[in-house]
Amino acid sequence: MSVLPLFTWFEHSWMGEGIRASRWLFPAIESVHLLALAVIGGSVLVVNLSLLGLGLGRRSAAQLWHETWPWFAGSLALMLGSGFLLFTSEAVKLYYHEAFWVKMSALLLSLVFTATVQRRTALADPDRVTPWRSRAVGLVSLLLWFVVGAAGRWIGFS
Ligand code: HEM
Repeated sequence: MSVLPLFTWFEHSWMGEGIRASRWLFPAIESVHLLALAVIGGSVLVVNLSLLGLGLGRRSAAQLWHETWPWFAGSLALMLGSGFLLFTSEAVKLYYHEAFWVKMSALLLSLVFTATVQRRTALADPDRVTPWRSRAVGLVSLLLWFVVGAAGRWIGFS
């Protein structure tokens, strides 16, 4: 079953029409999207660099996880909300754009990985996590988030 009718409905909803009809709404929402990207990128980097052994000072990955969590959760909510608004204004174009599907799949994988494997590794007793496991988790997480960001940019380019 295709989701094209649903995407078409979003594009012709009052939200999609309103954003498309305005000269400034799309860029304004995209600015919020990109400001939130800077915050989420920062919190993802801090925890993953620590897992890679390039941490900030003497703070453990667990401490950094707890400290960055509110920033991560808040900016994620902003990214999802602003992303959804942008989506409604060009849903049919996005349906046919492979980068959009790459981005959504990578986002889903990143969120699942962050909430499960990365969370368990960051919060585990450091004596029970080998440096190799910690580095591998940091690297996979960075790669997944990089694909989300790169695919987002790819949509803008084409
Ligand atoms: C943490 C999650 C996300 C990240 C890291 C992310 C990243 C990005 C990036 C880097 C851009 C490119 C901006 C530019 O071209 O200058 C972008 C644009 C965009 N994003 Fe996201 N995004 C996220 C979530 C979402 C979600 C959930 C949606 C939709 C449901 C979405 C929809 C869009 C749309 C429609 C654009 C504009 C594309 C265009 O220029 O035509 N994003 N995003």
